[in-house]
Amino acid sequence: MQIEGTSYHTIWFDDNVKEIKIIDQRWLPHQWEIMALTSSDELIEAIRDMAVRGAPLIGVTAAFGVWLICKESANKKSPNLYFEKQILALRAARPTAVNLNWAVNHQLEIIQHGSSWEEKMTTSLAGAKSIKQKEIITCEKIGDWGLEIIQKMYEKKQEPIQILTHCNAGWMACVDWGTATAPIYKAAKAGIPVHVWVDETRPRNQGAAITAWELGNENIPYTIIADNTGGYLMQKGEVDLCIVGSDRTAVNGDVANKIGTYLKALAAKDNHVPFYVALPSSTIDFNMENGMNEIPIEERAAQEVLFIKGKHEDKLLEVQLAPDDAHAKNYAFDVTPARLVTALITERGICKPSKEDILSMYPENR
Ligand code: MRU
Repeated sequence: MQIEGTSYHTIWFDDNVKEIKIIDQRWLPHQWEIMALTSSDELIEAIRDMAVRGAPLIGVTAAFGVWLICKESANKKSPNLYFEKQILALRAARPTAVNLNWAVNHQLEIIQHGSSWEEKMTTSLAGAKSIKQKEIITCEKIGDWGLEIIQKMYEKKQEPIQILTHCNAGWMACVDWGTATAPIYKAAKAGIPVHVWVDETRPRNQGAAITAWELGNENIPYTIIADNTGGYLMQKGEVDLCIVGSDRTAVNGDVANKIGTYLKALAAKDNHVPFYVALPSSTIDFNMENGMNEIPIEERAAQEVLFIKGKHEDKLLEVQLAPDDAHAKNYAFDVTPARLVTALITERGICKPSKEDILSMYPENR
């Protein structure tokens, strides 16, 4: 998608210097920085510290990480031991987004037959490039399916469609298009007037910082709202539908997404506002039967709650919000039970959030 008129992906392999490059998201939109990930430790830290973030992008980054680990292993005294240790560290970088382990598993499967580290490097690099390309196609397909929903609403309403989204499930969380934002971009391209209510998304404010910036770059009208505003807007009839992303969806249709998603789903149910979750199949955990009971919820540093990052004049600052000796809890995700979700928008189509419908959409995982 566009940044000041130029098309970008969030991650790419620079063939000239044989390096992985990312857009560092930690100070967006105030600071634009391209970062090279030159070691697996650096790549793992980039995931942990959220220089790259969003479930699909975490998955693609991890896939490139396997290539880096193969490359480093080749020069170690005990290559297998080193390889195992780094793969474990990579898997543990962020626990909720299942895309990370999905991508690592996929890469391990394709490199297992490589007889040398050179061969494993070649196949893992090709594998990472292919996972990246597939995520782009997948997100675009999600956009096409989601467009149908927005189009039908517009045919009835004949006025701008009001969409509420939480966190950043946009192209910055993927490689291109985004998941929740793909239908929005498709609708705008189809000439359907849309307006997006952007939840600020405390504590890290991915909505106010990244989603707003993304939408602005694509000339999509939006308004940032404090996290607690959505329910009030729904009561006033100012939200036609909610679309959010997912970090892990269990086979029963329960969905983990950024903390606060559950409260939006509750408000949507109470106000008869359809609540859609847009997700690629790489986000479905086909080994998990019950999301409410089983999805691991990442807990991050209290610092993210107690302080806030921003810009003052030309300076990037982190300022303290709470008393000096304050304590905080920082759960990064919550689980929305399937009964609150209207439907899932996947690359294969729209389905009910139930085991039967998910598995009939993906019969190879039965
Ligand atoms: O903690 P983050 O910023 O990685 O959380 C991102 C989200 O919760 C997104 O909504 C989710 O990954 C879906 S991204 C298409």
